[in-house]
Order: sequence, then C-alpha cells, then structure tokens
Amino acid sequence: YGDFNNKIDYVFKVVLIGDSAVGKTQLLARFSRNEFSMDSKATIGVEFQTKTLVIDQKTVKAQIWDTAGQERYRAVTSAYYRGAVGAMLVYDMTKRQSFDHMARWLEELRGHADKNIVIMLIGNKCDLGSLRAVPTEDAQEFAQRENLFFMETSALESTNVETAFITILTEIY
Ligand code: GTP
Repeated sequence: YGDFNNKIDYVFKVVLIGDSAVGKTQLLARFSRNEFSMDSKATIGVEFQTKTLVIDQKTVKAQIWDTAGQERYRAVTSAYYRGAVGAMLVYDMTKRQSFDHMARWLEELRGHADKNIVIMLIGNKCDLGSLRAVPTEDAQEFAQRENLFFMETSALESTNVETAFITILTEIY
C-alpha cells in the first residue's frame, strides 16, 4: 500500500489553452517549479507537470497539461481534453487578439471536454500594465457571460499564479 504519508486522495487533470506566446508554459513553470524563463520556446505537442498539494486535508495531485497555441504544433485535440476536470483559458492582456480568440478556444473546449469542467479565464502578463490592451472590465464581462472564473496574473512576477491554480483545484474538489 506504499508510504502512508504519500497517499494521494485525488488526481485532477487541468488543461491550459490559448494562443501561442500568451505564457501558458511559464504559468505552469511558475506554479510547478517556481521558475520563469524569458526565452521560453514554443511548445511542440503536449507536455505536463504535476504538483501535489493539500486542500481541505486531502492530498491532491494536480496534473497540468500544456499544449502548443500554434495550430501546426498541436496534438490530437480529443486526447488532450479527455479526463480534464479543470481548464485555464489564457490570453495575453497586452495582445487584444489573444483575448478576442477566447471565444473560439472556449468553443473547442466545450466541444471536447466534460460538461462539468471548471474553467478559469486568465489575463496573463499583468506586469506589463502600461501596455495593457484588454481592460479588466471587458474580461470580467466575458467571464460573467460565459460563467467562468477570472483572474489577472503574471508568471514573471508570480502575481496570482498560485492563487489561480489553487482556486481552480479547490473549485474542482
Ligand atoms: P506556446 O507554447 O507557443 O503556445 O506559447 P505559451 O503560451 O506557452 O507562451 P510561453 O510560456 O512560452 O511564453 C511566451 C513568452 O512570453 C516568453 O518570452 C515568456 O518569457 C513571456 N512571458 C510569459 N509569461 C509572462 C509574464 O507574466 N510577463 C511577461 N512580461 N512575459 C511573460
């Protein structure tokens, strides 16, 4: 039965989606290893990281999947979403287009994922406030209309990254 102290109560699969270069890989690096890289390369195919944490005295293993935002590097969609209980829909708050594409990503997500999946909209790169192209209110309005949680984050400065992941994991739980 293994080491009692390493007992895992739940394994939750969470997927990251959004356009290329919005910061999905760096959000995951920050959350899972507390690392950040400025010269992060485009993800090819699919990668995942795990992080184990305690929520409500239960040991939860978060298995977080990251895929390419670029169409040509994307892996089989249905396999990516299979079994996911949480999703982070990430845009870059300095790139309006990445926010305008959220509706399409949401459509793909809803077309493939379980209907009870917990979804959080993430406006990343809030450290670049002076370059903001997406007002907080626009994102809030979209999130409210689509029934999503919403947070602005910075993988660079660690702002709200842990909070975002913990909120989604707690909500799943
Ligand atoms: P794909 O793998 O192509 O889908 O991209 P991605 O969404 O995984 O983006 P990635 O994490 O590789 O980040 C793209 C670029 O944005 C890199 O240069 C990162 O260093 C940078 N970046 C990511 N997060 C932040 C952030 O919070 N603030 C700033 N200033 N830069 C960031």
